[in-house]
Amino acid sequence: MNPLTLQPIPYQGSKRSLAPRICRLIPKGIDTLYEPFAGSAAISLYAANRNLAKRFVLGDVYPALVSLWTLIIDDPEEISGRYKVLWDSQFSVGPTHFNEIRARYNADRDPTLLLYLIARCVKNAIRFNRHGDFTQSVDKRRNGMHPKKFTATAHKVSALLRGRTEVVCMDFADCITQARTTDLVYMDPPYQGTTYGRDKRYAAQLERERLIASLANLNQRRVPFILSYDGKTGDKEYGERLPESLKATHLYIHAGRSSQATLTGRSEETLESIYISADLVGKLPTLPNYEKEPAPQIELFAQ
Ligand SMILES: C[S@@+](CC[C@H](N)C(=O)[O-])C[C@H]1O[C@@H](n2cnc3c(N)ncnc32)[C@H](O)[C@@H]1O
Repeated sequence: MNPLTLQPIPYQGSKRSLAPRICRLIPKGIDTLYEPFAGSAAISLYAANRNLAKRFVLGDVYPALVSLWTLIIDDPEEISGRYKVLWDSQFSVGPTHFNEIRARYNADRDPTLLLYLIARCVKNAIRFNRHGDFTQSVDKRRNGMHPKKFTATAHKVSALLRGRTEVVCMDFADCITQARTTDLVYMDPPYQGTTYGRDKRYAAQLERERLIASLANLNQRRVPFILSYDGKTGDKEYGERLPESLKATHLYIHAGRSSQATLTGRSEETLESIYISADLVGKLPTLPNYEKEPAPQIELFAQ
């Protein structure tokens, strides 16, 4: 199954194009793969499709997103039907439709409305204000993922994850308290570059210190982890490197053109930072040489 067709939630920040590279770091015989900053859960989806772990834990702190995941996995028929009704009605209601749905979502946080907003907003680039309200505008050039495509994807993903996945709404630190040495934690927190500022990309903020303390705790418990965090675009570095005391190996991975630069019409190569815990390095025969590998093709989500 093509990993690019396995994304029911078309998040612009998704790791789907890097998943084949990142998942090369998953050693054989992993029990549970934890993804405590799940978002669209690209790494878990890729890993589940390749049977790289026996069980999966998807966690996110944004409640409507977690409800959306629960619906997709437990009742793909129901969520597909609701999405089709919303998607179809954009043509009868006309140009006011998106803003009406956005206002409804900001009032009641219905997960199906969130799905529609993600699928239909400018380049799938979600934006929230500090109250968790959706603030991004409609993409005038695209109609959003077609219901047929969503329905097929949701059913495939449900078949892949149901019965071996736990979906939880909680802070990342609480999500990984049960992780053990035979598990693996993959973390993709909001980057320092996107966490702060007026218009936040993600609903929740994360302090760097809390992240570092949590990684140190994983080291103490000998739980292997992979962390995607910041990087550089052209000559501009985002965020500070993590401290040496964590003893994690740092690699750069070519991520393609910066989505931010793409939105503003510039074209610059982005390198993302990946940190690999010492326990995980010890389980791998070799480390990949990502910098030698060209950037993957970044495509917009299929409509
Ligand atoms: C960069 S996105 C993850 C994208 C994901 N790797 C994917 O493939 O779509 C970060 C996610 O972390 C969530 N988040 C932010 N702060 C969090 C926290 N303290 N605990 C758990 N999740 C958090 C956000 O809601 C967002 O969905």
